[in-house]
Amino acid sequence: MKIKVDGKWLAYDERGVGIPVLLIHGYPLSRKLWEPQLSGLSDTARIFTLDLRGHGESEVGEGTQTAFSMDMLADDCAAFLDELGVKEPVVLGGLSMGGYVVLAFARKYPQRLAGLILAATRAGADSLEGKANRDKAVAQAKEGGAIAIADAMLPKMMSPKTYIANPGLVSGVYEMMKGTSVHGIIGDLLGLKDRPDSSSSLPEIKVPTLLLYGADDQIIPQADMESMATAIPGAQFVVIPQAGHLLNLEQPEEFNQSVKVFLNQLRERE
Ligand code: MLT
Repeated sequence: MKIKVDGKWLAYDERGVGIPVLLIHGYPLSRKLWEPQLSGLSDTARIFTLDLRGHGESEVGEGTQTAFSMDMLADDCAAFLDELGVKEPVVLGGLSMGGYVVLAFARKYPQRLAGLILAATRAGADSLEGKANRDKAVAQAKEGGAIAIADAMLPKMMSPKTYIANPGLVSGVYEMMKGTSVHGIIGDLLGLKDRPDSSSSLPEIKVPTLLLYGADDQIIPQADMESMATAIPGAQFVVIPQAGHLLNLEQPEEFNQSVKVFLNQLRERE
């Protein structure tokens, strides 16, 4: 489905009834990332998955600046919920860059939240080396397109075990990355490079928060998520074995089970 949000068409899926849950994908991915959650969690909640601007089937938007700041992407999510008429507090979930967007949303719109799900993400800003790598990736995308980025990222996206056990999943992730527009990739990279450090805002989070981490993540160190879990009041931290950065795709049953327990706890609090 598509909906016009601030003058651009954004693609999304919606399934189920109950508490609204909006899931935000990482870089350089699309809402396809959340297919096992769309099907597996819709008996528990009203699940929305969204292609961020410039990703999947969503437009970039006229006059879009080159960089997609995390605040800009969070504003898109808020405007998307407004267009859909979702007024009640939502559970916002994000994986990796999606988690950075969730943290930006939590700073800007805390009153719109019922809970947070943070998967394979971190609070800190990019290091100097990280920023230099973003510039290199921008040059790579300009020269070689999405395929150059997909080729470079594919070996790190999942657990080493997943590449052996699940080649079908690996090729699906490759296709997803190749399908991202170059504008989207560069917009993300520039936004990621300049994203602020969210660490000081973590103790301000007032809603129940679930953190999920794949034990074999090759991109985010476990210590980064552990310190987030310590800083967010009352946060729960779950480590999923045999999974890497895309833990929700690699071990969907375990991932969904943890989210269901969390959503049921939220319902009991109401
Ligand atoms: C992601 O998966 O969204 C990215 O790896 C995040 C990042 O590069 O910081």
